[in-house]
Amino acid sequence: MNRRHLLKTMGLSLATTPLLSVEGFALDLLFAEEGHASDEKFWKKFAKQHYNVSSDFINLENGYFGVQPNSVLKAYQANIEKVNAYSSKFMRQEFYQKNYPEIKQALADVSGVLPEELLITRNATEALNILIQGLDLKKGDEVILQHHDYHSMIETFRMLENKIGITLKFVDVPLAPKNHQEIIDIYTDAITNKTRCILVTHLTHLTGQIMPVKEISTIARSKGIDVIVDAAHSFAQIDYRFQDLNADFIGVNLHKWFGNPLGAGLMYVKKERIKDIQPLYGDSKKAIDDIDKLGHYGTPATPIVMTITEAAKFHVMVGILPKEARLRYLKEYWTQRAKNIDRVSITTPLDAQQSCALASFKVEGVTAKDVVKKLDDKFRVFTVIRKLHDDTVVRVTPNLYNSTDDLERLLEGIEAITKS
Ligand SMILES: Cc1ncc(COP(=O)(O)O)c(C=O)c1O
Repeated sequence: MNRRHLLKTMGLSLATTPLLSVEGFALDLLFAEEGHASDEKFWKKFAKQHYNVSSDFINLENGYFGVQPNSVLKAYQANIEKVNAYSSKFMRQEFYQKNYPEIKQALADVSGVLPEELLITRNATEALNILIQGLDLKKGDEVILQHHDYHSMIETFRMLENKIGITLKFVDVPLAPKNHQEIIDIYTDAITNKTRCILVTHLTHLTGQIMPVKEISTIARSKGIDVIVDAAHSFAQIDYRFQDLNADFIGVNLHKWFGNPLGAGLMYVKKERIKDIQPLYGDSKKAIDDIDKLGHYGTPATPIVMTITEAAKFHVMVGILPKEARLRYLKEYWTQRAKNIDRVSITTPLDAQQSCALASFKVEGVTAKDVVKKLDDKFRVFTVIRKLHDDTVVRVTPNLYNSTDDLERLLEGIEAITKS
């Protein structure tokens, strides 16, 4: 892949290259040869330069939220000080006039849509609630979900089930589908003439499985069904732009893979569909097709929102292609070995392309709670328990600052646990 082609894939032009040389790493990343994902020397140097994580333990629980890179943390601290020092003068004369449009533009550039199609929220749950509750579902309307969707979104639909009388239909997606078509068929076979909406989680938080959102969405839209995409985990973890999903409604957060401080999310609504979403927070003044009519939720956490520009800069500097490749490499590194350990099963699709950083596993005869505790107590490896159907699994999520040494420690821990 040559430089021009790579930049184009990232939605950039040669004119924007100065952004890419932040702290001198980008060019190495950009022009690295195939195999850069496994270049430990390079990634260790990268981690040392860009992250300051505790050496007290090995954090393999980056699925909750991401550690901010140093440049982002520094910008965040400066933003807190600026808002405190300039107070309401800054908010009344500068923030909305100057900063806010720039922040929206940075997000539009990264996600590949128009700034007027984006609304900054406090997290993914808020973005998705505005969408789900804004669709104006009626009694008898059917909604298709799957058991691995995020519980907060399921709860919102349950609330509407009780309040309005919509019907929830859950589909079961196999962990090891033969191909994408099998998943597409499962969703589309569940469609009836009462189906009004489908919630599709792009990358699930339990197993890391990646769903064929575009295909499901294209079929659903051809039947007049709305698709809401929960992209909380896929945004900035895997390579795509919002329009690639062919969906009208998307909710994400910016504190997982995008590396912003905790407390910011993003909602996308295709321009011509804004009029179809009813505000969750009352607003009768704004135009029906103005996305800001959906954002009447009071004073924002301004320093967090301001930091988005620095997080976007870091995201562009690394590049989503090398990032996705490295994260997938780390996941493959431990899952390919762990799957051969006696009594261990990987509860993530084994086809490498069907997941990225996040994967989970279980050990026959040992509860996930015990595995997590032993890994933490004896090996200083921090992971988390997740509930999968009636079972529990251990979720492992490395980030860019993790090395294969960290994964060796995890594997050592898993081996020891299976032998104890
Ligand atoms: C798939 C998925 N959707 C939504 C959310 C909620 O994100 P937030 O905490 O930003 O509201 C999460 C959080 O882990 C998630 O994994």
